[in-house]
Amino acid sequence: MIHSAILNVMVKAAHRAGRSLKRDLGEVENLQVSMKGPRNFVTAADRRAEEIVREELAKARPDYGFLGEEGGAHEGTDKTHRWIVDPLDGTTNFLHGIPHFAVSIGLERAGTIVAGMVYNPANDDMFLAERGKGAFLNDRRIRVAARQNLAEAVVACGMPHYGRGDLALARHEIAAAQQHFAGLRRYGAAALDLAWVACGRLDAYWERDLSPWDMAAGMILVREAGGFVSDCDGGDEIFTKNQIVAGNDTMHKALLRLLKEAGREAGKEAIREASAP
Ligand code: IPD
Ligand code: CA
Ligand code: CA
Repeated sequence: MIHSAILNVMVKAAHRAGRSLKRDLGEVENLQVSMKGPRNFVTAADRRAEEIVREELAKARPDYGFLGEEGGAHEGTDKTHRWIVDPLDGTTNFLHGIPHFAVSIGLERAGTIVAGMVYNPANDDMFLAERGKGAFLNDRRIRVAARQNLAEAVVACGMPHYGRGDLALARHEIAAAQQHFAGLRRYGAAALDLAWVACGRLDAYWERDLSPWDMAAGMILVREAGGFVSDCDGGDEIFTKNQIVAGNDTMHKALLRLLKEAGREAGKEAIREASAP
């Protein structure tokens, strides 16, 4: 497959950042056994990766704006284009030497994501999509899974960390999903969760309390692979509500219904608790 110029720019940036992350992963593995641990080293690796991505993207498109998890927002002179970048998605995995993390680059044009790339340097999986041109994994066209039966579906989710997010709601949502799907997974890298929905490894995925850089690239991958993405209420406010539900038409609808029911149950529980003596 011949990539468009813009995808080539994204691939080049991700390969360079990926080489740096892969080298650093080796060091992280050594640091597991040290008293100090790898945390500071990983923070530096993360920043280094974002610097590389930013430098490469700016070389090719100096006018575009940039939103990165580490460095924040930088306005460009071109107000219609903006890169949305997570240089290291799956930091906790990386910190523990688990080879499931990604460089994620999305390109937004006038408020719409028009290109996305998710790259796992540990196994070289390169997911690419451009608006209207389909989605690809290592140059092969990908489609979301066709599965229609919930009892055969494998679904991924996020889980709020203790003290963050709505733990009671998450408990109800997870319980609802456990009752209906064949298997539930928590992999720890949102961009890869979405990419895996796009290529049919996962049937569906949902998560709350995310950020635009976790989702920008993955959401166009899913859409270009024939899938559906929305916020947890079925609307388009993915970036304002910071949440996402993804899957084929059937799984996406089913998951939205389960989340709604779980929300009702969580609400009832909260009322019961508030009125308990
Ligand atoms: C995180 C990962 C994780 C999700 C977190 C994200 P980070 O991104 O995508 O899967 O559950 O909420 O913040 O911090 O590893 O870039
Ligand atoms: Ca992330
Ligand atoms: Ca990150």
